[in-house]
Amino acid sequence: MKPLDPITYDYAGLIAPKDVPPFVRQTGLVDADLKWLVPRLSAARQEVLDNLSLYKQGRPVPEDLQPLDAGFLDMPERLLGEERPLLDQIQAAGDRLAKEVDRVLVLGIGGSYMGARALLEACCHPYHNQISRQRRGGRPQIYFEGNNVDNDAMQGLLDLVEGADDWGIIVISKSGGTLETAVAFRVFLDALRKVCGNDREKLRRRVIPVTGESGRLRALAKAIGCHDVFTIPEGVGGRFSVLSAVGLLPAVVMGLDVNHLLEGAAAMNERFRTAPPLQNPVLDYVGMCRLMETRRGATIRVLSTWGKGLEAVGLWYDQLLSESLGKNGQGATPLTVVNTRDLHSRGQQHQEGRRDKLITNVFVEKTQRDWIAIEPSEFDEDQLNSLSGKTLPDILQAAFAGTNKAYADDLRRTTTIRLPRLDEGSLGQLFQMLMLATVVEGRLVGINPFGQPGVEAYKKNMNAILRKTS
Ligand code: PA5
Repeated sequence: MKPLDPITYDYAGLIAPKDVPPFVRQTGLVDADLKWLVPRLSAARQEVLDNLSLYKQGRPVPEDLQPLDAGFLDMPERLLGEERPLLDQIQAAGDRLAKEVDRVLVLGIGGSYMGARALLEACCHPYHNQISRQRRGGRPQIYFEGNNVDNDAMQGLLDLVEGADDWGIIVISKSGGTLETAVAFRVFLDALRKVCGNDREKLRRRVIPVTGESGRLRALAKAIGCHDVFTIPEGVGGRFSVLSAVGLLPAVVMGLDVNHLLEGAAAMNERFRTAPPLQNPVLDYVGMCRLMETRRGATIRVLSTWGKGLEAVGLWYDQLLSESLGKNGQGATPLTVVNTRDLHSRGQQHQEGRRDKLITNVFVEKTQRDWIAIEPSEFDEDQLNSLSGKTLPDILQAAFAGTNKAYADDLRRTTTIRLPRLDEGSLGQLFQMLMLATVVEGRLVGINPFGQPGVEAYKKNMNAILRKTS
């Protein structure tokens, strides 16, 4: 069994010491703030758990709670428990596709895309597509499309696959009607059909749709006769679906341990349900973000990731927070940075710009690979011999500590989420922590975190423009 060490959320950096001048205390939080927070967090947690009970009982959902996509909450436990046969089917279908092809195109957008990309970038080899199949553990290359309408990007991917007989498609759309994904599927399905010729059976095996219970994609899946089709359940919203077949199927194809991923998420659920406020990573994260936003003007939430593998996790979170809570003229603005890269771009503003940001670091404790060290060299013009023996993790740790000290010295406060290592277990915990936090915050401030009515406006206009007959 892989280890499942808990991720932690450390907010000590926000708490102002008692013996400092008032202007210093006013940049941080004090006991009275936390006291005010505790009962409100407990009530919001209860509301989220009550939402889940309502959803599970299948009773009619009151109008003011609609839509209610509470189904993501206990999905990890269900897939590891009573729905294990479904998890086994996802595993079998993903393994089959991985065995039969060398390249898989994952078509989807928004919540039907970002989680799988986050998993690839965090948990696979950083050059997954470039290394040999053997070094990839026998798994296929992965390409993402259907997440834009970029002609040249799509042509580029067609250059790679057209005429070749070694690829397949996972197409993901809950509604089944999202134009970006539908267009990409039309294009790549045509290309794949040319390769498969009259071999309908081959086509059926090469395309795996993941979609809602009804809709155009489901109809297409039926028409093609796809061997495997997975369903995104009604009560699971797109951006809350990473731990359903939406994220799990691509993860299996990548060769990731989906049990470990789900175990991590289930462990976070347990902490969410049982740990009291101020010792509960979900509630504490929500509470600190809220207090800093409402009392200290931190309307921008910077997810400050320390490592390249976390960038797409940050982008996944950008979508989760902005689509869920950016409603009714409210909602903090998420922003992902990757350090140390962005210390050389956004770092200036974060150090000396407007005091409207809460920085949450995401720091990984252990590397997956051996450490690279600076070796002494006869060419010391770069003067690095004085650092010989220092490793890349030493440098990253120094940059992390130095950056946080520089912020703190200027009374810019930071918090930190620590991941024991960058693997499926940590990612499962982090995904679930941030999904729960988003829902709890919605209940705390009276915004329905589910649904995205604001996204409909552009779709309506785009369709009207496209279908206009002049
Ligand atoms: O969170 C959401 O619901 C959205 O971001 C959707 O995931 C996105 O719009 C894609 O929708 P669909 O899966 O229906 O193609």
